[in-house]
Parts: sequence; C-alpha cells; structure tokens
Amino acid sequence: MASLRARTTPLRALCSLQPLKRTTPLKPTLTTRSNIQSVTLPTRNHSTSSVSADELSHFSALASSWWDPMGPSRILHLMNPLRHEFIASCLAEGSTETTPSPSNPNSATFNYLDVGCGGGIFAESLARTIPLDANGPAPTPTRAASMTAIDPSTNLIQMAREHARMDPTVDAHLRSGKFKYLNTTLEDVLASTSPSTTTPASTITTATPQFDIVTLFEVLEHIDPKTSSPLTFLTNCLRALKPGGWLIGSTISRTLPSFILNQVIAEAPWPIGVVPRGTHEWSKFVNPPEVKGWLQEGLMRAADTGVSRGGASVAEDMSWKCVGAIYVPGLGWKMVPGSEDWGNYFWAVRKGF
Ligand SMILES: C[S@@+](CC[C@H](N)C(=O)[O-])C[C@H]1O[C@@H](n2cnc3c(N)ncnc32)[C@H](O)[C@@H]1O
Repeated sequence: MASLRARTTPLRALCSLQPLKRTTPLKPTLTTRSNIQSVTLPTRNHSTSSVSADELSHFSALASSWWDPMGPSRILHLMNPLRHEFIASCLAEGSTETTPSPSNPNSATFNYLDVGCGGGIFAESLARTIPLDANGPAPTPTRAASMTAIDPSTNLIQMAREHARMDPTVDAHLRSGKFKYLNTTLEDVLASTSPSTTTPASTITTATPQFDIVTLFEVLEHIDPKTSSPLTFLTNCLRALKPGGWLIGSTISRTLPSFILNQVIAEAPWPIGVVPRGTHEWSKFVNPPEVKGWLQEGLMRAADTGVSRGGASVAEDMSWKCVGAIYVPGLGWKMVPGSEDWGNYFWAVRKGF
C-alpha cells in the first residue's frame, strides 16, 4: 500500500466530473505541492500541534483563488449546502444543552467552532444565518448564535476576513464579535481556555469546553498520522465541546474506489482533474470504523478530567451518525446511505451530558 501514497485525488472530485461552466479557467489556478514558492506561514511554533507543514503550505498557496466558485476549491463550494443539511439532521435528533427557552422558541443558541475553516466557505455561510437581533427572522435549522472559525494558515484567514467584510450582515457579526476568524490551532484554542498553563498536557486536560457544535469539514484527511495523531486531534475536538454538543465532520474512506476517483481522476491534469494535484494523500483517508473507534476512545479521554475518570459507559452511550455523499451532476451532492464505505461521507458524534 505504500506505493499508493503518491498524491492523487478526492472522491468528491471524481464524483463531480460534470461539464464545467467556468467563468475563469481552472487550470491556471491549479497548484501542486511542488510548485509552491512563497507562502506566508504562521510564525508560531506548531511543533506540539496537529498541523503538518506540508499541508499548511499546500492550502496557503490556494488562498487567492479560494472564493472562485469554479476554481480549485469548487468541490468545497458545491458541498456546502449538504453540510447545513447534515447539521440540521443532527440537531433534529437532539439539541445541545442550550436549547431555546420555551418563552423564546425561535432563539438561536448554538455557539459553533469551525476547525480548519480554510477561506471560510462554510464558516461564512453559517455566520450569515446568525440573527442580527433578537427580533429578527426565525433562525435556520442550524440555529447559530455565534461562529468562531480557526485555521493555521495565515493566508487563508486573511482571505476569509476580506471576503466576509463584503457582506454587510457578516461584517456586522465580525464587528460585534458574534463571528470570529482566528489564525490559530485547535491546540492553542484549548490551551487558551485552560486555567493552567504549566505544561501542554495539563492545559489540554483541564480546558474548559466552550462550544455547542464543533465542525470539522474535510480536515481529518489532512492530519498526518506519521507526525500527528488523529485520535488526539479528535479528542481535542471533543474537549472543546460542551456536554450534549455535537462534533460534526466529513472526510473520505480509504478504499480502492476512492483511490481511483479521488487521486487518479480528480487530480488528473486539466481539463479532467477538478482539484489541485497533491491536495489528497490516499493513505491519510480514514474509514468510518476508524473514525468511530477514535471517537469512542476520545470520548473517554475527554471525560477524564484528572479528577474523575471517563469510563467505558461514556463510549457505549455514544450517538453516532454516518452517511455517504455522492455528487450527482446537475443535482449537486446527495446523501447516499451505504456509500460511506467507499467514498466521501459525513459523520457526527454527540458528547454525553
Ligand atoms: C480541504 S481544506 C477544508 C477547508 C474548510 N473546512 C472547507 O471545507 O471549506 C482543509 C483545511 O484544513 C486546514 N488544516 C490542515 N491541518 C489542520 C490542523 N491540524 N488543524 C486545523 N486545520 C488544519 C488547512 O489549513 C485547510 O484550510
């Protein structure tokens, strides 16, 4: 399997091989990991974080074309409506602890953290649904009250902020603090909420959960298991969650079809390929049972505060959702139960009370 580590493409990209109605050509914006010359990298030391320098360089170089709907991030733009739909389906199963009060059933009460927000395709769309005031229209099914979006790429956060300022509603949320873009890591967010800063280990263990919903769209497959730990990364996502909150993400299964579709076809030279070459590394793809297993272990670790131990019951009671997604030309991305075993999929877990 080692030979399959050669960079190829995402399944979602394969599934989106529809005729492109480009306003701008895709080819000139494609970037490979090898041709990245100059990107601004964060000056902070990420040595204790989950961030891979290779991944950071790759995505930072795509910043200027991130919001081009026909550009290298086109697949992410197309997937966005399904993200809202999937979150709504999770919330329909059980709200977090901070449900709207009976006196104000329309109140939006969920504080979101979007980890690895990139240039803000999802974060901005969610921020747009935050009511401007209490008397505003009824919230959307995702019931956002605030959004904190983080990414380790300085270039992408800068691009995200610039784009957000163009929408008066979103700009108002940036000014009020209901919507924040932070050029930081998940590990730093957790450390900043800890009452203790003596050692990295202790700060993470005692971090105060702040968020009702943590989203992790198309990020897990960019955590390098050779230099980091997906289990630790997911555990930290769970640590950021309040009791009853949801961790919701999407990623790609590591199967032969996903190798052919996501790497061979989707990262083929233009005009066949639809994502930049080098975006994905098949060996980093993760299968649903792996994600579920890490989350079960992560729930136990997150419940272990150092004072009380997280027991097996924490994991046994886990609410787990998982469904595959396929792009249907002309119709967009669709949930296709069963396809999670061979391609793109959404997953979610609810933290116990
Ligand atoms: C494929 S993009 C997805 C962006 C965004 N979530 C979306 O779907 O529109 C992957 C993003 O993950 C970020 N990333 C990579 N490693 C990360 C890590 N260890 N922690 C947080 N973000 C990371 C990258 O900087 C990049 O913005």
